[in-house]
Amino acid sequence: MSFNSSDVQSVFSGNIAESWEQKSRYIGSIDGNDNMMIPMIKKYVTSAKKFLEVGCGTGKLLKQVDSLVDNITLTGVEMSRDMLQQIDISEFNNPIRLINDSIENFTSSEMYDIIIMKQVLHHVVSRKLVLEKLSKYLTPTGVIIIMTPNEGYQNSIIPFNREKDVLGRINDAMMLEYISDLPLQVEEIKHVNTIARFSSLYEYFMFLYSIGSLQKIFNYREEYEYALELITVFKRLFSKKSQFLVDFDYSYIVLENK
Ligand SMILES: C[S@@+](CC[C@H](N)C(=O)[O-])C[C@H]1O[C@@H](n2cnc3c(N)ncnc32)[C@H](O)[C@@H]1O
Repeated sequence: MSFNSSDVQSVFSGNIAESWEQKSRYIGSIDGNDNMMIPMIKKYVTSAKKFLEVGCGTGKLLKQVDSLVDNITLTGVEMSRDMLQQIDISEFNNPIRLINDSIENFTSSEMYDIIIMKQVLHHVVSRKLVLEKLSKYLTPTGVIIIMTPNEGYQNSIIPFNREKDVLGRINDAMMLEYISDLPLQVEEIKHVNTIARFSSLYEYFMFLYSIGSLQKIFNYREEYEYALELITVFKRLFSKKSQFLVDFDYSYIVLENK
């Protein structure tokens, strides 16, 4: 994979960041639960004092956790300034600290009871190194909860390729390999299937663009702009009504200390 985190940072800046919260406008409807993160977090949050979210985007999850419990210190690390500046910290009840940097550069004198990566690890260049770093910031009874697209995610459209996957999907075997030399073990893995209904190819392509997947296919390089131009030029053709279904399969992985 030939990209670096500054390529990823530029993709999640500008108009992608600005319209991040409207990205679902391209989806007609969804069958299944597309956000199991809160139920997963609820299992651990009552005894947690420190909460870290890596790649917290526009802070939606941080806000949900904030309204769930009191007496928790929240930290968000996010390398896109355009995402971070949409978070209004005055709306939070608990203390919150936002750090505008990559997780690769992040250092902390604190340990965390819950560390979250929601839809982030598949955008990370060196997954093993990041997990190693997070393992060092985990309290003895702490958990790392990861939500990631797995091999079933859009597999009927773009076949999964374990060695060089254009969407960066992560299956269970890969996850076990990333943590094999780390002081971490799997506490739980949940596979969740959701099915999204799109009413045209145009909406499907624009959804891929709005979540950064179109850019990922082009290794986050600016060549994706040609693809976007093509989609725009042929908008009328791609907008022809033809309803189709896409599997969005995710894994929720809970890691704990060995
Ligand atoms: C697909 S978005 C998910 C955002 C948010 N977690 C959500 O679910 O809405 C990925 C986010 O992770 C951030 N990100 C990707 N790689 C990162 C890294 N190495 N360090 C910090 N943030 C990163 C991106 O800037 C982007 O905001």
